[in-house]
Amino acid sequence: EKGGYEHFMLKEIYEQPNVIKDTYRGRLLANSGIIQMAGIEDNIEKFLNADRILIIACGTSWHAGLVAEYIIEEFARIPVEVEYASEFRYRNPIITNKDVVIAISQSGETADTLAAIKLSKEKGAFVFGVCNVVGSSISRETHAGAYTHAGPEIGVASTKAFTTQITVLTMMALRLAKAKGTISNSDFHRYLLELEVIPEKVMEALQTNDISKEIAAIYKDAPNCLYLGRGYNFPVALEGALKLKEISYIHAEGYPAAEMKHGPIALIDEKMPVVVIAPKQNHYDKVVSNIQEIKSRSGKIIAIVTKGDVQVKDLADHVIEIPDSSDALSPLLTTIPLQLLSYHIAVMRGCNVDQPRNLAKSVTVE
Ligand code: F6R
Repeated sequence: EKGGYEHFMLKEIYEQPNVIKDTYRGRLLANSGIIQMAGIEDNIEKFLNADRILIIACGTSWHAGLVAEYIIEEFARIPVEVEYASEFRYRNPIITNKDVVIAISQSGETADTLAAIKLSKEKGAFVFGVCNVVGSSISRETHAGAYTHAGPEIGVASTKAFTTQITVLTMMALRLAKAKGTISNSDFHRYLLELEVIPEKVMEALQTNDISKEIAAIYKDAPNCLYLGRGYNFPVALEGALKLKEISYIHAEGYPAAEMKHGPIALIDEKMPVVVIAPKQNHYDKVVSNIQEIKSRSGKIIAIVTKGDVQVKDLADHVIEIPDSSDALSPLLTTIPLQLLSYHIAVMRGCNVDQPRNLAKSVTVE
């Protein structure tokens, strides 16, 4: 059932090109320039009239929510807030019938997310679910929704659920932007075409498996690790750190790269591996100067770069090359080597990758 892979996690990492395709199939009609998602079409007015969108989720799904915040605000120009469901439900949040709530959950059973949905409904908000498990509690409790089509995710560490959530949320952002007129026709079409070929680029990003394994062998005994990214890749840094800590038990933290100088830089010495997500897009020059700051304090730099990069390659101790993409779609690619890196480190440390200690696949207790 592991399809020849040693662990479910690795199988699920490798399934990503296919499940991303399954997730956009029938919804993304790139050649006709159309995105159609039943749950959105039926409720488009609710989204267009919303004062804001509130995203609630936990863990990896919360990270997908952060990526969505950047994408929805950029394209659809609707204010977005992202909250941990566990905080939201207990803090008497301000929520009205002018709010649209998007709840993201792979399992559809997370207790805190479910409770936050019920609270939002009581206050009159329209609640839209992005779930993977069909017929799950959250998919039933929400007013409408869009399923990810990741298939069963067995490994406790979420991988393909994350990238398919981002796929759904990106399509939603583009669809809303189109309806609002906040994206030009040519940009809209360009993103549709690019999204359509993302599975091929993810396939190419999976070819970083060997280099990720080599780097894993060098750093597997590190007690700590930092992950840095900016913009769309800041949430990817958080997700990379979560993946490492949950399956390898190495202490890891993710930060927006520019926050380094406000504290975490004190941690840098010659023993600290720092994973920097540095694709050649919007914030590239800024990330390059962040890398210089780490290097001048002797930190070890593992950089995720765009294929053909020369500037970061000169500075970093190791580079992992991924295919080029637009800024907004880059999380779907930059995530891949981070998943592989934590997988190999955990395997080399003899950890139970698919069932890490203290964790359960769905958290049905608060
Ligand atoms: C991380 C992980 C957890 C879940 C979180 C939310 O790899 O698996 O952080 O993402 O428990 O679960 P769902 O998405 O099922 O609500």
